[in-house]
Amino acid sequence: MTIAPSLLAADFSRLAKEVGRVNRSGADWLHLDIMDGHFVPNISFGPAVVQTLRPLTKLFFDVHLMCSKPEIVLEPFARAGADQMNIHIELGDHVTRLIWKIRSLGKKVGLAINPPTAISLIQPFLEQIDALLIMTVIPGFGGQSFIYETLPKIQQAAAWRRERHLRYHIGVDGGVDFKTAPECARAGADTFISGTTLFGQRNLGAAVRKMRKATEKSQSVGLLPDSEPLKPEVV
Ligand code: DX5
Ligand code: ZN
Repeated sequence: MTIAPSLLAADFSRLAKEVGRVNRSGADWLHLDIMDGHFVPNISFGPAVVQTLRPLTKLFFDVHLMCSKPEIVLEPFARAGADQMNIHIELGDHVTRLIWKIRSLGKKVGLAINPPTAISLIQPFLEQIDALLIMTVIPGFGGQSFIYETLPKIQQAAAWRRERHLRYHIGVDGGVDFKTAPECARAGADTFISGTTLFGQRNLGAAVRKMRKATEKSQSVGLLPDSEPLKPEVV
């Protein structure tokens, strides 16, 4: 399981200390939400902040680009120290070119999908991605409630991965807490992006361990080696 605290929920007045907390917590990735004020109605931070944080940790930097024109920022974020860059499938015709560009920069490729968007749009790209980021809230703000209607998408992504013998991560992002994370694990998710819940705990390390344990327990129930894959409707 990959546990990825989302920096959006950190105390921005002491970012370096917050990254230190994540570093010591046993988390696997640091999720960095980039909002452009256009693709989503909020603005977060840019490559200069990521560059400042890069020397503080060896954590895998998972950059989530909620941007209408990510092509403008791919190179700056690559230089700033991103390990993986997630672009949104809602960008339509631009997706192929963006995936190619991220690869050419030597970075891992993630593809994110918003709750109202059909999972079938992801299908042509499955062979080309390292991670699928299933948004479980409408992106733009932390602290929202998990949208349960997204669960069949996780099941579908897991079924495709099994059938095609692929290895992409299946991540969930938004409203992921100690109740919803195991439910996502049961559906087939292996990567858990969590902001408000993890940063809200005084002991981040204990929170990361708790989420890891809860999700591992659910996965072993849901994905027994010989069990029939779930056959959800394509949503
Ligand atoms: C939502 C962001 C998420 C956000 C999750 O637009 O993409 O990464 O930080 O925050 P929580 O866990 O508070 O829902
Ligand atoms: Zn995110």
